[in-house]
Amino acid sequence: MSPVLQERRDGLLLSTDPGLIDHELVHGWISGTYWATGRSAETMRRAIAGSEPVGVYREADGRQLAFARVVTDGVVFAYLCDVFVDPECRGRGLGGWLVRVLRDDLARRGLKRFVLVTRDAHRVYAPLGFEPVDAGRWMECDLQAATG
Ligand SMILES: CC(C)(COP(=O)(O)OP(=O)(O)OC[C@H]1O[C@@H](n2cnc3c(N)ncnc32)[C@H](O)[C@@H]1OP(=O)(O)O)[C@@H](O)C(=O)NCCC(=O)NCCS
Repeated sequence: MSPVLQERRDGLLLSTDPGLIDHELVHGWISGTYWATGRSAETMRRAIAGSEPVGVYREADGRQLAFARVVTDGVVFAYLCDVFVDPECRGRGLGGWLVRVLRDDLARRGLKRFVLVTRDAHRVYAPLGFEPVDAGRWMECDLQAATG
Protein backbone atom coordinates (compact mmCIF):
# COMPACT_ATOMS: atom_id res chain seq x y z
CA MET A 1 0.00 0.00 0.00
CA SER A 2 1.54 3.32 -1.06
CA PRO A 3 1.34 6.36 1.26
CA VAL A 4 -1.69 8.64 0.84
CA LEU A 5 -1.07 11.51 -1.58
CA GLN A 6 -2.66 14.90 -0.99
CA GLU A 7 -2.62 18.12 -2.99
CA ARG A 8 -4.73 21.24 -2.60
CA ARG A 9 -5.75 24.05 -4.94
CA ASP A 10 -8.60 26.54 -5.23
CA GLY A 11 -10.56 25.06 -2.32
CA LEU A 12 -10.18 21.53 -3.68
CA LEU A 13 -8.48 18.51 -2.17
CA LEU A 14 -6.95 15.79 -4.33
CA SER A 15 -6.41 12.64 -2.28
CA THR A 16 -5.62 8.96 -2.76
CA ASP A 17 -7.24 8.10 0.59
CA PRO A 18 -9.73 5.31 -0.31
CA GLY A 19 -11.74 6.18 2.81
CA LEU A 20 -12.89 9.47 1.26
CA ILE A 21 -14.52 7.92 -1.80
CA ASP A 22 -18.27 8.36 -2.26
CA HIS A 23 -18.92 4.88 -3.63
CA GLU A 24 -22.54 5.51 -4.57
CA LEU A 25 -21.68 8.65 -6.52
CA VAL A 26 -18.71 7.05 -8.28
CA HIS A 27 -20.75 3.99 -9.20
CA GLY A 28 -23.45 6.23 -10.66
CA TRP A 29 -20.85 8.05 -12.75
CA ILE A 30 -18.88 5.05 -14.01
CA SER A 31 -21.82 2.73 -14.67
CA GLY A 32 -23.13 5.36 -17.08
CA THR A 33 -19.98 5.59 -19.20
CA TYR A 34 -19.43 4.03 -22.60
CA TRP A 35 -16.80 1.63 -21.25
CA ALA A 36 -18.58 0.34 -18.13
CA THR A 37 -22.29 0.60 -18.90
CA GLY A 38 -24.28 -1.34 -16.33
CA ARG A 39 -21.31 -2.25 -14.10
CA SER A 40 -22.75 -3.26 -10.71
CA ALA A 41 -22.07 -1.39 -7.48
CA GLU A 42 -20.45 -4.53 -6.06
CA THR A 43 -18.10 -4.88 -9.06
CA MET A 44 -17.19 -1.20 -8.80
CA ARG A 45 -16.47 -1.53 -5.08
CA ARG A 46 -14.27 -4.59 -5.61
CA ALA A 47 -12.43 -2.92 -8.52
CA ILE A 48 -11.69 0.07 -6.30
CA ALA A 49 -10.51 -2.18 -3.47
CA GLY A 50 -8.11 -3.91 -5.87
CA SER A 51 -6.56 -0.75 -7.27
CA GLU A 52 -5.22 2.64 -6.19
CA PRO A 53 -8.08 5.14 -6.38
CA VAL A 54 -7.86 8.92 -6.37
CA GLY A 55 -10.51 11.56 -5.87
CA VAL A 56 -10.91 15.32 -6.01
CA TYR A 57 -13.13 16.77 -3.26
CA ARG A 58 -14.56 20.22 -2.51
CA GLU A 59 -13.00 21.16 0.82
CA ALA A 60 -16.03 23.17 1.96
CA ASP A 61 -18.36 20.18 2.15
CA GLY A 62 -16.33 17.13 1.10
CA ARG A 63 -18.35 16.59 -2.06
CA GLN A 64 -16.52 14.43 -4.59
CA LEU A 65 -15.95 16.10 -7.98
CA ALA A 66 -13.67 13.64 -9.78
CA PHE A 67 -12.42 10.07 -9.66
CA ALA A 68 -9.84 7.79 -11.28
CA ARG A 69 -8.03 4.61 -10.36
CA VAL A 70 -4.72 2.99 -11.17
CA VAL A 71 -4.27 -0.76 -11.49
CA THR A 72 -0.63 -1.43 -10.73
CA ASP A 73 1.91 -3.89 -9.38
CA GLY A 74 3.47 -0.85 -7.72
CA VAL A 75 6.88 -1.57 -9.22
CA VAL A 76 6.99 -1.58 -13.02
CA PHE A 77 3.54 -1.29 -14.60
CA ALA A 78 0.40 0.82 -14.15
CA TYR A 79 -2.92 1.08 -15.97
CA LEU A 80 -5.08 4.18 -15.60
CA CYS A 81 -8.85 3.70 -15.81
CA ASP A 82 -12.29 4.99 -14.82
CA VAL A 83 -11.24 8.64 -15.16
CA PHE A 84 -14.31 10.82 -14.56
CA VAL A 85 -14.95 14.46 -13.74
CA ASP A 86 -18.38 15.69 -12.56
CA PRO A 87 -20.04 17.10 -15.72
CA GLU A 88 -20.53 20.48 -14.02
CA CYS A 89 -16.80 20.77 -13.26
CA ARG A 90 -15.32 19.84 -16.62
CA GLY A 91 -13.03 22.09 -18.60
CA ARG A 92 -11.39 23.55 -15.47
CA GLY A 93 -8.30 21.37 -15.48
CA LEU A 94 -9.42 18.80 -12.90
CA GLY A 95 -8.87 15.83 -15.22
CA GLY A 96 -5.39 17.00 -16.15
CA TRP A 97 -4.52 17.72 -12.50
CA LEU A 98 -5.60 14.27 -11.39
CA VAL A 99 -3.67 12.45 -14.11
CA ARG A 100 -0.54 14.59 -13.63
CA VAL A 101 -0.43 13.88 -9.89
CA LEU A 102 -0.78 10.15 -10.51
CA ARG A 103 1.83 10.21 -13.27
CA ASP A 104 4.37 12.06 -11.13
CA ASP A 105 3.79 9.76 -8.17
CA LEU A 106 4.26 6.61 -10.24
CA ALA A 107 7.42 8.06 -11.80
CA ARG A 108 8.80 8.87 -8.33
CA ARG A 109 8.10 5.30 -7.28
CA GLY A 110 10.28 4.16 -10.19
CA LEU A 111 7.62 2.62 -12.45
CA LYS A 112 8.42 2.38 -16.12
CA ARG A 113 5.14 2.07 -17.98
CA PHE A 114 1.81 3.89 -17.53
CA VAL A 115 -0.91 3.02 -20.05
CA LEU A 116 -4.56 3.82 -20.70
CA VAL A 117 -7.28 3.33 -23.27
CA THR A 118 -9.45 6.19 -24.51
CA ARG A 119 -12.02 6.68 -27.24
CA ASP A 120 -11.89 10.47 -27.48
CA ALA A 121 -10.06 12.12 -24.58
CA HIS A 122 -6.56 12.04 -26.09
CA ARG A 123 -6.21 15.78 -25.53
CA VAL A 124 -6.36 15.30 -21.78
CA TYR A 125 -3.45 12.87 -21.80
CA ALA A 126 -1.19 13.95 -24.67
CA PRO A 127 0.20 17.06 -22.89
CA LEU A 128 1.18 14.80 -20.01
CA GLY A 129 3.42 12.60 -22.16
CA PHE A 130 1.03 9.86 -23.26
CA GLU A 131 1.55 8.75 -26.86
CA PRO A 132 -0.43 6.40 -29.11
CA VAL A 133 0.93 2.85 -29.02
CA ASP A 134 1.70 0.63 -31.96
CA ALA A 135 -1.58 -1.25 -32.48
CA GLY A 136 0.31 -4.09 -34.10
CA ARG A 137 2.15 -4.90 -30.88
CA TRP A 138 -0.57 -4.61 -28.24
CA MET A 139 -3.03 -7.50 -27.99
CA GLU A 140 -6.11 -8.07 -25.86
CA CYS A 141 -8.40 -10.97 -25.01
CA ASP A 142 -12.11 -10.63 -24.23
CA LEU A 143 -12.01 -13.26 -21.48
CA GLN A 144 -15.74 -13.89 -21.29
CA ALA A 145 -16.09 -14.23 -25.06
CA ALA A 146 -13.00 -16.42 -25.42
CA THR A 147 -13.94 -18.90 -22.70
CA GLY A 148 -17.74 -18.65 -22.54
C1 LIG B 1 -12.34 13.36 -20.05
C2 LIG B 1 -12.55 14.12 -18.75
C3 LIG B 1 -12.05 13.26 -17.58
C4 LIG B 1 -11.72 15.41 -18.82
O1 LIG B 1 -11.84 16.10 -17.60
P1 LIG B 1 -11.69 17.70 -17.56
O2 LIG B 1 -11.53 18.09 -16.13
O3 LIG B 1 -12.79 18.34 -18.32
O4 LIG B 1 -10.32 17.88 -18.35
P2 LIG B 1 -9.37 19.17 -18.34
O5 LIG B 1 -10.18 20.38 -17.99
O6 LIG B 1 -8.17 18.86 -17.51
O7 LIG B 1 -9.00 19.24 -19.89
C5 LIG B 1 -7.70 19.04 -20.38
C6 LIG B 1 -7.73 19.21 -21.89
O8 LIG B 1 -8.41 18.12 -22.50
C7 LIG B 1 -9.49 18.59 -23.31
N1 LIG B 1 -10.58 17.61 -23.14
C8 LIG B 1 -11.22 17.33 -22.00
N2 LIG B 1 -12.12 16.36 -22.19
C9 LIG B 1 -12.06 16.02 -23.50
C10 LIG B 1 -12.74 15.09 -24.30
N3 LIG B 1 -13.69 14.27 -23.84
N4 LIG B 1 -12.42 15.01 -25.61
C11 LIG B 1 -11.46 15.81 -26.12
N5 LIG B 1 -10.78 16.73 -25.39
C12 LIG B 1 -11.07 16.82 -24.10
C13 LIG B 1 -9.82 19.95 -22.76
O9 LIG B 1 -10.43 20.75 -23.73
C14 LIG B 1 -8.47 20.43 -22.37
O10 LIG B 1 -7.78 20.87 -23.52
P3 LIG B 1 -7.03 22.29 -23.55
O11 LIG B 1 -6.04 22.22 -22.39
O12 LIG B 1 -6.40 22.30 -24.89
O13 LIG B 1 -8.10 23.28 -23.32
C15 LIG B 1 -14.04 14.51 -18.54
O14 LIG B 1 -14.49 15.20 -19.68
C16 LIG B 1 -14.96 13.32 -18.29
O15 LIG B 1 -15.12 12.89 -17.16
N6 LIG B 1 -15.56 12.78 -19.38
C17 LIG B 1 -16.47 11.64 -19.27
C18 LIG B 1 -15.71 10.38 -18.92
C19 LIG B 1 -14.55 10.15 -19.84
O16 LIG B 1 -14.66 10.18 -21.07
N7 LIG B 1 -13.40 9.87 -19.20
C20 LIG B 1 -12.14 9.64 -19.91
C21 LIG B 1 -12.03 8.22 -20.31
S1 LIG B 1 -10.45 7.89 -21.06
